[in-house]
Amino acid sequence: MTITPITVLQESDLRDKKVLIRVDFNVQVYEGRILDDLRIRKTLETIVYVRGKGAKVILVSHNESKDGTGLLPVCEYINEMYKNECGQVTFISDFMAESTKETIASMNSGDVILFENLRVLPGEKANDVEFSKYLASLADLYVNDAFAVSHRKHASVVGVPALFPGKKYAGIQLMKEVDALKKALKPSHPFIFILGGAKFETKLPLIQKFSETADMIFLGGALLNDVLKAKGFDVGMSLVSAGEFDLSGVISNPKVLIPTDVVVERGGQAVIVPVNEVLTNDAIMDVGPSFTSMLKQHAESSQFILWNGPMGNYEKGYKDQTIGMAKVVFESKAQALLGGGDTTAAIKELGYEEKESEHVFISTGGGAMLEFLQYETLPGILALE
Ligand code: 3PG
Repeated sequence: MTITPITVLQESDLRDKKVLIRVDFNVQVYEGRILDDLRIRKTLETIVYVRGKGAKVILVSHNESKDGTGLLPVCEYINEMYKNECGQVTFISDFMAESTKETIASMNSGDVILFENLRVLPGEKANDVEFSKYLASLADLYVNDAFAVSHRKHASVVGVPALFPGKKYAGIQLMKEVDALKKALKPSHPFIFILGGAKFETKLPLIQKFSETADMIFLGGALLNDVLKAKGFDVGMSLVSAGEFDLSGVISNPKVLIPTDVVVERGGQAVIVPVNEVLTNDAIMDVGPSFTSMLKQHAESSQFILWNGPMGNYEKGYKDQTIGMAKVVFESKAQALLGGGDTTAAIKELGYEEKESEHVFISTGGGAMLEFLQYETLPGILALE
């Protein structure tokens, strides 16, 4: 089964049609400011496409911003930054209100509206049929351009498309993500897999899967602490997984590489120490610089690099090696696919977002990227078939 890109539709199919586009505007908002607009920018192509063909656009998304401001700041941001692409976007805070139907009925060709965070209503996460029917009743066609949330069996991701037989499409960004990720499933060699972050339970199956195809696996983040512990190193006060995992296959795998030095927090200071000299009161916060050098040495001759998750505790400011490695990947000639919130934050800090090119693809997905790599599809993609 295949998914149909929205670009198969032409003006005759789209003019004056109401198109419900599931986007992922789950972007970080702090005090009303958008901290990273990668996901917004990457959706513009689809919005421009359907508007350009005369459709009326209804955007729906979730937003889990810690300050709870929802999507109004996102709407204001789009109106300030992307007026050319989206026109003046109308924000609808109570999208279940009777007046919403009137607003939609009065839309003109090319108009765009954005609903408030779908997750304010329980029907979204519960994939409630009545909620899905309501959303579906507002539009003529459905588009999923929200790769990053396509691992969720939520109403707007799987429930709504089920109600649009023959009228559901993949957005331009969704198609690009799927095409890029498929390359990681049949990579050119030498192939380097870099995996960081935490949550061993979700990442262990990936290490196992890519042990078959990758030529080298660079492990960092809190995952590394578990591996070091299983190898018998003292990891002091470092963050380790709560569960018990059988890591025998990982620690005996010669493809799995660990750093020879690490950055620890010792007495409130960041100190670089050999990996076998971590003290009982130290906490490992980042891989050491020699790991970045090791990556550089291998990246130069590799053909494909796949990376998800930071090398250090990014939230606490231990960013150096994640940023250093991102630089190595961009400067290599390898085809590369990078994703995960903190990995893309490192790319932004380098000012390299604009450098995305034929050879580097930045995925908007975090969990969705990991699940796609593991299962080779996602519920939101299956729902489009
Ligand atoms: C993400 O940020 O990974 C996506 O927007 C999905 O968000 P969620 O994990 O809250 O479902």
